[in-house]
Amino acid sequence: MKRVITYGTFDLLHYGHIALLKRAKELGDYLIVALSTDEFNSVEKNKHCYFSYEQRKSLLEAIRYVDLVIPEESWEQKVSDAHEYHIDTFVIGDDWKGKFDFLKDEGVEVVYLSRTPEISSTQIKKAFSDGKGKGNCS
Ligand code: CTP
Repeated sequence: MKRVITYGTFDLLHYGHIALLKRAKELGDYLIVALSTDEFNSVEKNKHCYFSYEQRKSLLEAIRYVDLVIPEESWEQKVSDAHEYHIDTFVIGDDWKGKFDFLKDEGVEVVYLSRTPEISSTQIKKAFSDGKGKGNCS
């Protein structure tokens, strides 16, 4: 069984996230999402989520491509996760291109997938705060 892992915040789950998770699952048989905790987001990534960790986790667990959600609490855990969960493939969007190549030294395949254009959690938050909450709807 080929085991794949990805990392991220996944706040205000959107179609760019789903497209990433679908392609990640297609790279193997079992997909683990390491989901940034609220503390890791705020202290290390300077990101402030709308949905709590537990809410984001519940949403991800309802997605057919996701087999397991674990907490992401540090930058360093990727190496220990790779061993603990017997990871074959690490995958993430190409906004991180090159940043995690060191995992190849652990025997992990590293894949950067192209991001879906024009959508992000930040962009959704900004649209609402600018009074453009209607977004793409007609
Ligand atoms: N992602 C993607 N396409 C998008 C947005 C995100 O493929 N349009 C991917 C990212 O590359 C990452 C994963 O989804 O692998 C989780 O990204 P995250 O940072 O949680 O989502 P963003 O929408 O980019 O959030 P933010 O605006 O807070 O950076």
